[in-house]
Amino acid sequence: TFRDVSLGRVAEAVESSTLRDASVAIRRDKIVFVGDAEACRQRVRLTAAGETIDCRGKVVLPGLIDPHTHLPFAGSRAPEFRLRLRGALYEEIARAGGGILSTVRETRSAGEDELVEGCLARMDRLLMHGVTQAEAKSGYGLTLEDEIRQLRAVARADRDHPVDLHATLLAAHVLPEEYVGRRREYVELVTTEIVPAVAQRGLARYCDVFVDDGAFSVEEARTILKAGIRHGLRPRLHADQLSAGGGAELAASLSAASADHLDHVNPAGIEALARTGTIAIILPAATFYLRKNKYPPAIALMQAGVGVAIATDCNPGSCMTENLTLAATIACLTTGMDTDEALAGITIQAARSLGLERTHGTLEPGKAADLAIFAVGERTEILYHFGINHCHTVVKDGRVVVRDRRRASARPSERER
Ligand code: NIG
Ligand code: FE
Repeated sequence: TFRDVSLGRVAEAVESSTLRDASVAIRRDKIVFVGDAEACRQRVRLTAAGETIDCRGKVVLPGLIDPHTHLPFAGSRAPEFRLRLRGALYEEIARAGGGILSTVRETRSAGEDELVEGCLARMDRLLMHGVTQAEAKSGYGLTLEDEIRQLRAVARADRDHPVDLHATLLAAHVLPEEYVGRRREYVELVTTEIVPAVAQRGLARYCDVFVDDGAFSVEEARTILKAGIRHGLRPRLHADQLSAGGGAELAASLSAASADHLDHVNPAGIEALARTGTIAIILPAATFYLRKNKYPPAIALMQAGVGVAIATDCNPGSCMTENLTLAATIACLTTGMDTDEALAGITIQAARSLGLERTHGTLEPGKAADLAIFAVGERTEILYHFGINHCHTVVKDGRVVVRDRRRASARPSERER
């Protein structure tokens, strides 16, 4: 017997792409019509400056949403990648002062312009894969000044690029080297200085903590996330990634926007997420990239009624990719998610985790005119024919920004927008 595909309340996300002989009409930056092409011809008149995009033989989806990335960073961890291929564990490399801390050293010595350029290059690659919205975390600065510089870079990159970024403060990513033996003081610095300063400058909407043996405890995370809440930053957190540790329960108890990774979440954690409606963001491309064999229990999460979104986790250590549809294919192959559930995971479920479900994540009149158009005969092909970028055209806020697989407008003119 086969499991029923559980699209539940997100069925509409994929339903619109099951329409055939259909049209989408856009006025300025909003969708005004979705449905039968003939009805569209009767009801919608193209303005003189208007344009028709022929999508025959293609599939139109809402712009994809990547709800968990670590976009602003400097440097490369390619040598660490090769060490891991020879058997070194991610956790061992971290304990020896490499891993996240090596990216912290490189990011601290990078200027703001260099961080902006890095973000923009990654956003170009996201956009080419159909992504029009992405979450972006700090976490490689770990001082007030360096975290702020990372978040400023995110704000500038957001302004200068069609991909919209949603910033998250991740000052509690790992304990910085200079605080070894002084954990309490660092937690104190984050709660009393970094969180308030970032919130006051409007540089982040969310606050994240990496809850793990090698990072922060549940109690430390609770203290930091509560400080975030007091300053208007909603929690989303790295939970149960490398081992089970109560992260999901913590996320639920604070009504977090999301609990992310969840490779090791237990039944109590799943229950807790279901009760509070916290979205589970799975990052199975990171599990794959870290050569781990325990993948997040996506089916159990969905069967418990938890919304499951999928993200790249784009970062230099545990998942160096901007290919969100590849992450979705990995989700299908490793967890048994159906392709439609995975497509919902990178559209409407991702939108829900970022509070964008009323304006983005589906093709519906009144929503933002963000479209990702794929050169495939039907939508399953996007994930089935994997590792290939099928994205052909991208429309962001009603403007064509990728045309025939090329960026349609250069960055300088976007700056003047
Ligand atoms: O989501 N888990 C912690 N943070 C990242 C990895 C960051 C890094 O290795 O640089 C993650 O996997
Ligand atoms: Fe992450």
